[in-house]
Amino acid sequence: MTTKANRDYRPATHYAPPYGWTNDPNGLVYEDGTWHLFAQHYPDATHWGPMHWRHAVSEDLLHWKDLGIALYPDEKLGYIFSGSGVIDEGNTSGLGKERDPMVVMYTHADMKKQQQSIAYSEDRIHFTPYAGNPVIPDERQDFRDPKVFRNPVLGCWSVVLAADDHFEFYASKDLIHWTKTGEFGAAENILGGVCECPDLFPLKAPDGSEVWVLLSSNGLPNPFGGFRMQYYLGQFDGNTFRVTIPSDRPRILDFGYDDYAAVTYYNADRRLLVGWAESIVYGQDGPTNEFCGLMTYARELSLVNTDCGLKLAMKPVAPAHTLREAPAIEPFPLNPRQSLPRAQIALNGDLFRVRVEAEGPFTLTLSNEDGETLNISVSNEQKLVVDRSNAGAKDFNALFASGLFSVMTADRNNRGPVAVDVYFDRMIVETFADEGTLVNTSILFPNKPYTKATLLGKGKLFLGEMEG
Ligand code: FRU
Repeated sequence: MTTKANRDYRPATHYAPPYGWTNDPNGLVYEDGTWHLFAQHYPDATHWGPMHWRHAVSEDLLHWKDLGIALYPDEKLGYIFSGSGVIDEGNTSGLGKERDPMVVMYTHADMKKQQQSIAYSEDRIHFTPYAGNPVIPDERQDFRDPKVFRNPVLGCWSVVLAADDHFEFYASKDLIHWTKTGEFGAAENILGGVCECPDLFPLKAPDGSEVWVLLSSNGLPNPFGGFRMQYYLGQFDGNTFRVTIPSDRPRILDFGYDDYAAVTYYNADRRLLVGWAESIVYGQDGPTNEFCGLMTYARELSLVNTDCGLKLAMKPVAPAHTLREAPAIEPFPLNPRQSLPRAQIALNGDLFRVRVEAEGPFTLTLSNEDGETLNISVSNEQKLVVDRSNAGAKDFNALFASGLFSVMTADRNNRGPVAVDVYFDRMIVETFADEGTLVNTSILFPNKPYTKATLLGKGKLFLGEMEG
């Protein structure tokens, strides 16, 4: 049911491949001013297929230079599924000749089993698969997405892997020989479904203590639930992870349907997260032309205290801009539709940020000449709602058109006044509330650019225009 676009939806400041299909971000490594991003990629069509790794680099995390395909499917071992990368400081692997190599670890997936392999590069462009692959052989069908990190407790490398309904940890001195050290479990996998794309890292809590965060993407067996990410807060003892700050409800990373398989950068001075900004459920039918799939903005992670306890917070790395306040429109009491305080501002283009600072419930509407509207609101019940049911083209996919994925609702984490930041780039809207602890990422396809932002409710509206 694919209808291709008569508009160019290519985002100006988010990564998307030049052509073909992209899903998960892989091998996120920072080195000497360069951000490396590899992506799950199928070059021959705009749907999922035999997986490659495509490679791009950036100096600002907003504009990307394509470096082509870094890893191709292997005739014997299979497709190149998701994985991660490190700079092998001190050449522990012995795979560098002239300098410390970049080593990437990924899953080789054939129809029956998934095993872990590595490849290395000295010029950071050409990657050589290790001759002794796989380095973690296995027979299982769901055993994938290695995320390698320095193990500060044992002073070696560690990797966390998704294995069906749980996670496994392995340690190594040289990135080649791996020994299993622990598991974190099925019993705590509150969301259910197959686990994918884990990440594990420490962050400082507001009280100064160190808390380890385990990220998990959960492919739900039920397509109507969409695919979701959750996170756990706890400690890593060098061998395994355990929860020390429990929650009776899953901690959802992003309540939009279009943020999955998100993982963080290795070697950066901040903890930066990038996700695949599309849902496998309807994404491949999207009305983009030569490409399909894009990444979220990189988001700096921190831990903050909210009225609902300690939460992971995200702040996007967005293009530079200044915020200017929109003029308020006097309420007109004789017309009930206009009796609420309002503010309005014209939007010139497809790349902007809108900020609302409200005392209580409000609705923010982005609208275009065709009468299409994206509504973002805080309800009387203190819920944040992102409603894309009339935001643009929908009939490219029956499930998307059905409205099942149109209205997204989540409880606020704080009481009282609320600030909401909305970042928009052509086909993606990223919404951050309650200091970045409540996040929604959604794709949408307005048939014409939005030209107006309107705030209904007591508060202030700001616009920040950005350069692409
Ligand atoms: C997540 C995922 C990973 C896998 C990859 C294959 O979207 O299913 O678990 O490695 O995509 O493309």
